[in-house]
Amino acid sequence: MTFETAATTQANLKKVRTRHFQSAKENGIKITGLTSYDQLTAAIFDAAGIDFLLVGDSAGNNVLGYDTTLPVTIDDLIPLTRAVAGAVTRAFVIADLPFGSYESGPEEALHTAFRFMKECHAHAVKLEGGVRSAEQILRIVSAGIPVMAHIGFTPQSEHGLGGHIIQGRGEAADALLADAHAVQDAGAFAVVLEMVPSAVAQRVTAELSIPTIGVGAGPHVDGQLMVWTDWAGLTTGRIPRFVRQYADLSGVLTTAAKNYQADVAAGNYPAPEHEYEG
Ligand code: KIV
Repeated sequence: MTFETAATTQANLKKVRTRHFQSAKENGIKITGLTSYDQLTAAIFDAAGIDFLLVGDSAGNNVLGYDTTLPVTIDDLIPLTRAVAGAVTRAFVIADLPFGSYESGPEEALHTAFRFMKECHAHAVKLEGGVRSAEQILRIVSAGIPVMAHIGFTPQSEHGLGGHIIQGRGEAADALLADAHAVQDAGAFAVVLEMVPSAVAQRVTAELSIPTIGVGAGPHVDGQLMVWTDWAGLTTGRIPRFVRQYADLSGVLTTAAKNYQADVAAGNYPAPEHEYEG
């Protein structure tokens, strides 16, 4: 298969499956992911050809009004995941396991994964941690549920890690490599590398046979994932330096809200075409 043919095949897939993540890596095709927390954005991103949608626990900071992802519960994420999974036709939908829902052991992890698969119709789950989460990954995968792993900066461990700090620098690269191998050996179909130096991410990507998905891990990975509200310019406040903003939704909505307010105040809305007769 030539590169062009492989890329075209990937774009024309009716449904993205785990095997397509693998074939993308093998054929040098970059995988694209965004977070989504609702049916409307899910349908838009799906139709635009985004390969996978993560219903991230970043919903905590972007939808639910928390400062971190730590307070997010399974019950918070169930309706959001169901909405996203119900809105797509092509994209692969991944449910994020929230803090406190899988760390106690493989059985707890499997029970949580079952909930997202049965109640939301997710296609896979994601959980944080390398070596420390390998048993959980193994158990979930053994039950037939695909797992995306997540290493490097893991937001659920923000306090343990001492803040939003780049992971895998200097001698810490070896521990990151060990985490990467542990999740691959446990059966993860892909691994997110968050806030990792580019050269270290490149090394992980070269050593692993499963695809690496970068979030602030530079260009030498097999795919990219962005939090959609950062990416679309809806988030206000501090944006990580690895984010490129592809739209200014905050600006668009602010202008729309100001125009609406002014129209209502001036009596210009509703106009005759907005009225019902009879
Ligand atoms: O919850 C999330 O959005 C994530 C990504 C940042 C990897 O875990």
